[in-house]
Amino acid sequence: MKIPKEWWLEIGDLQIMPMPRHRPVPRRPPWIIILVSLVCVLLIGAYIYPPGQLEACYFFSSSTCSSFRKWLPPSFVKVFTDDEIAARVVVRDILTMPSIQSKNPKIAFMFLTPGSLPFEKLWEKFFLGHEERFSIYVHASMEKPKHVSPLFMDRDIHSKQVVWGKISMVDAEKRLLANALQDADNQHFILLSESCVPLHNFDYVYNYLMDTNVSFIDCFEDPGPHGTGRYLDNMLPEIEKKDWRKGAQWFSMKRQHALLVLADSLYYLKFKNFCKPGMERRNCYSDEHYLPTLFHMIDPSGIANWSVTYVDWSERKWHPKSYRAHDVTFELLRNITSIDVSVHVTSGDKEMVLQRPCLWNGEKRPCYLFARKFNLETLENMMQYLSNYTI
Ligand SMILES: *[C@@H]1O[C@H](CO)[C@@H](O)[C@H](O)[C@H]1NC(C)=O
Ligand SMILES: *[C@@H]1O[C@H](CO)[C@@H](O)[C@H](O)[C@H]1NC(C)=O
Ligand SMILES: *[C@@H]1O[C@H](CO)[C@@H](O)[C@H](O)[C@H]1NC(C)=O
Repeated sequence: MKIPKEWWLEIGDLQIMPMPRHRPVPRRPPWIIILVSLVCVLLIGAYIYPPGQLEACYFFSSSTCSSFRKWLPPSFVKVFTDDEIAARVVVRDILTMPSIQSKNPKIAFMFLTPGSLPFEKLWEKFFLGHEERFSIYVHASMEKPKHVSPLFMDRDIHSKQVVWGKISMVDAEKRLLANALQDADNQHFILLSESCVPLHNFDYVYNYLMDTNVSFIDCFEDPGPHGTGRYLDNMLPEIEKKDWRKGAQWFSMKRQHALLVLADSLYYLKFKNFCKPGMERRNCYSDEHYLPTLFHMIDPSGIANWSVTYVDWSERKWHPKSYRAHDVTFELLRNITSIDVSVHVTSGDKEMVLQRPCLWNGEKRPCYLFARKFNLETLENMMQYLSNYTI
């Protein structure tokens, strides 16, 4: 549908200068001009946005639109809702904003725990000597923690109850992020549990996170029953089945991404309203699907797709391996710290093992900075390990 150029210009003139001085004043009544202009706008609209693209659907009747849809690939017919358009501009602008240049960039260590932290002494050892480069936040969801290290005193934030798998878990993560974002020096935000231990010294962790532009958010596509099988049609139109992702909740993210998590209500509300673990046909888990799906949709190249917190699922039980004192040997820790391939296993009968090298700024590096789940009884071994291990 090509509009001849001359005709276009003529009509354009008519629109812009209805009464040009060097021509006689046209005798045509104004409604003709309005009508011709309208037709012109419609034609230009149809020309600029060929049928099938979203905007064309505002110009054509819905039946015309659905007949276009039949023969167009599905990706061409995505019509954004008002909320999506709003969400997309917010996301785009936050992602392209220059980051706040802090003279004293810090990492926020955010502990999500039911109560007291069994490894406070270990963390204290990890932090000592680096006071200007970290801040600590503790969200204790069940009971007020008894702190043994001065570094952890008065670092509890206002907390609420957390139920595993439910939206309250995401709410606690957002509460931690909001508190940590108050400090403009915080540039990177790590979520840790009470059973997490550091695998390297502070400098190594600091440089690993600060010298790259990505967030370490675990994210993969699991076509099985515990992945895509948990997708709900209620997520439409904003979240399509092909965008559904899964991953462990223990993230570490840069400041822009932390802001995005707080700015998002569109996708968050989908999970809050429709993911109800335990209810039939509502059985999805916000803590495993919300952040991976969100970041897969809004900034896929900005995330590393693995978590820097190691966990051992190799026993294939409902819970990952929980390390006891006798498990924690130099050999075990050397094994964990030398892993440089991230592994994801899909669920169901057609189990697939997805392996990807851990690429840090394009080069292969060990994947993990922290590990879980460690029992309190491993504290002594870990203290020894951390003093002997220098990187
Ligand atoms: C991160 O991105 C900024 C802006 O694009 C760039 O100047 C900087 O060099 C990047 N840093 C790394 C470590 O890639
Ligand atoms: C993470 O995976 C997405 C695809 O889901 C890909 O586009 C992106 O490049 C990956 N990130 C990195 C850092 O490789
Ligand atoms: C460490 O890795 C080696 C080689 O994969 C394996 O044989 C050994 O059992 C591992 N040791 C521990 C303690 O996990």
